[in-house]
Amino acid sequence: MCNQDLGVILSSCKKTAELTDMLISVETEPTRLAGLRQLKVTLAHHQHTLVDKLCWTNASTTSNEENLHDHGVSTDARDVRRRMDIEDTILTKGCLKFDDVAGLLKAKQILKEAIIMPLQFPHLFTGGRKPWKRILLYGPPGTGKSRLAQAVSSEIHSTFYCVSSSDLVSSYVGESEKLIKQLFQHAASQRGRSVIFIDEIDSICRARTSREEEYTRRIKTELLRQMEGVDMSLDASNIFLMCATNCPWELDLAFLRRFQKRIYIPLPDREARLSLLRLHIGDCPMHMSAREWELLAERTDGYSGSDIATFVADALIQPVRHLQTAEYWKYTSDGKVCLCEKDCPGAFQALISDLPPDDVLARDVNIEDFIQSLTTNKSTVAACELEKFDNFTNTYGQAG
Ligand SMILES: Nc1ncnc2c1ncn2[C@@H]1O[C@H](COP(=O)(O)OP(=O)(O)O)[C@@H](O)[C@H]1O
Ligand SMILES: [Mg+2]
Repeated sequence: MCNQDLGVILSSCKKTAELTDMLISVETEPTRLAGLRQLKVTLAHHQHTLVDKLCWTNASTTSNEENLHDHGVSTDARDVRRRMDIEDTILTKGCLKFDDVAGLLKAKQILKEAIIMPLQFPHLFTGGRKPWKRILLYGPPGTGKSRLAQAVSSEIHSTFYCVSSSDLVSSYVGESEKLIKQLFQHAASQRGRSVIFIDEIDSICRARTSREEEYTRRIKTELLRQMEGVDMSLDASNIFLMCATNCPWELDLAFLRRFQKRIYIPLPDREARLSLLRLHIGDCPMHMSAREWELLAERTDGYSGSDIATFVADALIQPVRHLQTAEYWKYTSDGKVCLCEKDCPGAFQALISDLPPDDVLARDVNIEDFIQSLTTNKSTVAACELEKFDNFTNTYGQAG
């Protein structure tokens, strides 16, 4: 197939993907929505394959460049590929707010004064008083670093580029540097503000070693250059850079120094654990006394936010799990069916599959479900790790 055909297919593929995105944003029916999402994945896969083919058939010849131009695609197929990869990292403008991040009051306060206030009250930030544009969030895994970065982004109504370090490392020589450069250019070209969030930054910004490969050195140099640009260059004045790591002590000092704020995102304290429990339980029917809530807050000491999310999800499913093996049922006063003991008045024997699905009720979640789930879902953060974070915070960081 000639490049012209490939170009036509690629541009149709792009248009269909855009249309699919539009449909996804308005579709509410779950089956159709799942179908559309599947279609989106398939189209993205086809686009990547087509771009690869275009690269392969040597897009640098004049005629190919013209072909690509004809279809509204950049002259360099690799360039198109990079742009697609970058656009894949943009999370659709979310409505995640600071209130959706439990606890972390100090970190939120620092981020408010560092980023949000300068945008709300620009007249207060003149001369040397400037917003902080390069921020490092560090702490144990699952404490809400990504969530917090996303909340900052939606609080300031910006485009959120959620990039994992592995997205930036390419096996093609010189490609990673171009990708990093193009990412910052893409963010700068947005009409509004942009937040670039690079997760697991330690995997590309490790302390330099003498045996370091030339190509990792070049990636670091480009990233350092772009980080400088975020503050210095007028073109990049709309960009905020946020990075996250679970092991800040592995970062190269040259990078550490470039972050104007290094904020520790710790394990949740008691109050935060209670908020996390409430947040993840949501409006699922449950029955617990004030004392039982206290007990849960105590028993989850040492759990991260994501540990709590996992254990709560497991506890909430318990009443439904019991239904599957239940044998005896009874009717409630409003005509629904709930499970009961064999000797309960009105009890009858049936399998759940024999009952009208809409009428089956699950019991409320209770403290036993949570205790049971705690025994199988332990904390994933080792206590010895916490000491390392404290030491790092004393030397380089700021408690959040
Ligand atoms: N402070 C928090 N508030 C709300 N949810 C949290 C919080 N911390 C962790 N979580 C839960 O854990 C999951 C992982 O959080 P994430 O932000 O990816 O952690 P990290 O980036 O620190 O590894 C989130 O999707 C959320 O369900
Ligand atoms: Mg994360």
